[in-house]
Amino acid sequence: MTIQTSVVPQLLAPLCIFVLSGTLLLTVFVFVLDAHLVVDNRWQDNHFLNVIEISHSFSLGTGKIVSDMLSPIVNGIVRPSVFTKFRFGHILDISFSLAPQSSRRAKRMAHSIARATLGLTQPNKIDPPKIDLVEWKGDILAVGVTEKDMAKDENSKFKNLILQKLDSQLGGLLSEATSEEDFTGKAGQSTVLRLPGLGSKRVGLYGLGALASATVAYRSFGEAVALAAKSSQANNVAITLASSEGIPTESKPSTASAIATGAILGTFDDNRFKSESKKPALKSVDIIGLGSGPEIEKKLKYAEDVCLGIILGKELVNAPANVLTPGVLAEEATRIASEHSDVFTAKILDVEQCKELKMGAYLGVAAASANPPYFIHLCYKPPSGSVKTKLALVGKGLTFDSGGYNIKTGAGCMIELMKFDMGGSAAVLGAAKALGQIKPAGVEVHFIVAACENMISGTGMRPGDILTASNGKTIEVNNTDAEGRLTLADALVYACNQGVEKIVDLATLTGACIVALGPSIAGVFTPSDELAKEVFGASEISGEKLWRMPMEESYWETMKSGVADMVNTGGRQGGAITAALFLKQFVDEKVQWMHIDIAGPVWNDKKKNATGFGISTLVEWVLNNSS
Ligand code: BES
Ligand code: MN
Ligand code: ZN
Repeated sequence: MTIQTSVVPQLLAPLCIFVLSGTLLLTVFVFVLDAHLVVDNRWQDNHFLNVIEISHSFSLGTGKIVSDMLSPIVNGIVRPSVFTKFRFGHILDISFSLAPQSSRRAKRMAHSIARATLGLTQPNKIDPPKIDLVEWKGDILAVGVTEKDMAKDENSKFKNLILQKLDSQLGGLLSEATSEEDFTGKAGQSTVLRLPGLGSKRVGLYGLGALASATVAYRSFGEAVALAAKSSQANNVAITLASSEGIPTESKPSTASAIATGAILGTFDDNRFKSESKKPALKSVDIIGLGSGPEIEKKLKYAEDVCLGIILGKELVNAPANVLTPGVLAEEATRIASEHSDVFTAKILDVEQCKELKMGAYLGVAAASANPPYFIHLCYKPPSGSVKTKLALVGKGLTFDSGGYNIKTGAGCMIELMKFDMGGSAAVLGAAKALGQIKPAGVEVHFIVAACENMISGTGMRPGDILTASNGKTIEVNNTDAEGRLTLADALVYACNQGVEKIVDLATLTGACIVALGPSIAGVFTPSDELAKEVFGASEISGEKLWRMPMEESYWETMKSGVADMVNTGGRQGGAITAALFLKQFVDEKVQWMHIDIAGPVWNDKKKNATGFGISTLVEWVLNNSS
């Protein structure tokens, strides 16, 4: 898929220039920012189904990889299972190129250049012209409209100039259809017409609502267009806004990038585990009317990098627990590091090494599993310059949570979905992938995951067992199903030992958080108002929904043990809060720390798919901490 941006399509102005100048003396050029997205269904093609030799993946650009730490895996403790053929994060390869194009031969030329260069070329110096939407040739012309754009005059004619122009070209059918279908431009509404009269085969209007949350509205718009392209097997689409001229110049790049994000993520389907699937037909997306040039180009590149992180995150969560074992998760983390060995070091600790570090809480959870645990630590350092801030991102990495001896039973326990209990680690590794590409300056980031499974066996921890975490605190396990906090306890102690100033952990930690906030909002727990401000600022840009919850100290009462320092489970009430209070026991007071409970938003029940939640907020937050 290619994503292109070209310059403002005010319909009247170019037309007038056209007519007034009589002959076309100027050969006009449009700057087209062109993202070439090779959609690659390697899962369907046998030659892409490689069985990955683990040692193989470590030999890739191992520059800074701490190879002795990897030796347990290299020595074959983790054997590549038949399932390791499902590689992660390689579905979409995107590259951008910048090409000049004339308004008439525009598309074909831009595409051939895009394919030929697959990289950034220099922008043409000639002033860009305007494109006439009516002349745009392709499969779908998608116009985003607000409720205000849909206003009509006393003769039922659109007041908006772009809609007016399209409507008159279509003999009034657009205004007729929108009236009949009661299309008012509300968010989520859409109407697609297949009509002769335009260069485009179809024209679609997409409601943006009142643009209360612009990022979310633009992203949904991009996604809706991608879905329409999918259902009509469209090869190319153009996306524009009815009132793009009303958008302040400084907001245009972020508007374009929100639309592009929606289009990329809407095009992506995780078909790895299907025996049959269609290749996406969509090859190119022209974003018209939101400008061109280096700034928008940078924004689109950023959107692309974040999308690739999100896609990896989704793939990790979607992968079932028989494919994605702790060993495979460690392998994937190492792959991310080796793909960007200029900025990453990878350290994978096996059971013995975790024992040396006295990670008794984490190893207690891992004890029942036939699949050995791996403690994952990636470290990002900027390619050059000094480090001003050190951060850690910690993710819960339960590749499966059966509950253990307190096995998950009964309707609504969701045991069959507990592959998603590594959603926190997917967010952390997805962010790592994106940041490895973006390479922010001035910031060091530690990515930490204590990966394991919560299973049942004769070697497993029993309810009532007492574990000792790596900071020496003892825990009476009154419920083996409250396992995430046990793994995070040792991960947080480890993170604090890296000398970081701030830690954000993400975890599918409690069903109670879903009861409190529902399926699409994550719960935020932090004693630090400063850190809250930073992360909420990032979430406003990313559009991910967070809600701050109280860290009510009086609830700690329920977490007291008669024999150990604490139990791991309080009562039924305020379960997400007592879980957060438990984690706090393992964080150095000098470190600013935030826990985000993503039990709800990790999974989309309707789509039966992972959401990639958390990645865009984390990347944004890290960038805001860079210099
Ligand atoms: N992974 C679950 C939390 C969870 C439950 C996430 C449902 C998404 C959907 C976690 O390990 C867990 O089992 N938590 C228990 C804690 C309880 C035993 C105190 C819970 O929420 O029931
Ligand atoms: Mn559990
Ligand atoms: Zn769990």
